[in-house]
Amino acid sequence: MSDLFAAHHHGTRTDLAAQACVLHGFALGVVDALLADIRAIEASAPFRHLVTPGGHVMQVAMTNAGTFGWCSDRRGYRYDRLDPQSGKPWPALTPAFLRLAADAAREAGFDGYVPDACLVNRYAPGTRLSLHQDRDEDDRVAPIVSVSLGLPATFLFGGFARSDKTVRVPLTHGDVVVWGGSDRMRFHGVLPVKPGRHDALGELRLNLTFRKAR
Ligand code: SIN
Ligand code: FE2
Repeated sequence: MSDLFAAHHHGTRTDLAAQACVLHGFALGVVDALLADIRAIEASAPFRHLVTPGGHVMQVAMTNAGTFGWCSDRRGYRYDRLDPQSGKPWPALTPAFLRLAADAAREAGFDGYVPDACLVNRYAPGTRLSLHQDRDEDDRVAPIVSVSLGLPATFLFGGFARSDKTVRVPLTHGDVVVWGGSDRMRFHGVLPVKPGRHDALGELRLNLTFRKAR
């Protein structure tokens, strides 16, 4: 059985590629602060199911914090300073968000990380995110820092072509995945979240994805 399937201890690290790794349990100490911040973000910019350019409603519910927010509609994917639903700026990145993103990036080898966008993804059981590259950012070297909260999930981490083989990476509450530099443009996705109940979040998985969009 692959090492990626072994039980991991908090504070350990699994390398996925030269500039990509999982920091097991890295966010556990700040989960309460993150959850309070997510509740505040959600109160001014509620989760919503975006429509893809192809006309499909996305299974994952999304909102954003930061100077820029990732949006999708029939016209395409883009970053916007304003929440199209309210016309207001997205809620700011909070101190807890910025500190965690910078600390995780540094731990993974990326010093001085200052994201300007955080996509907040919400997965109900059964929800998946198909294989994709994060390619709407101007900066394609700065890392993506991805924080998992709530129900566990299997993250797929692949190569630079959609058809490249993927590794299955089990992620649990508090895990942080970082990929940047030469590994920044790798395909990735999430298998359907299995039904279950998490002590802090109930029947949900939340994911924070920090980016440097501009
Ligand atoms: C993403 O690729 O935007 C999210 C990945 C995840 O939910 O773990
Ligand atoms: Fe992504």
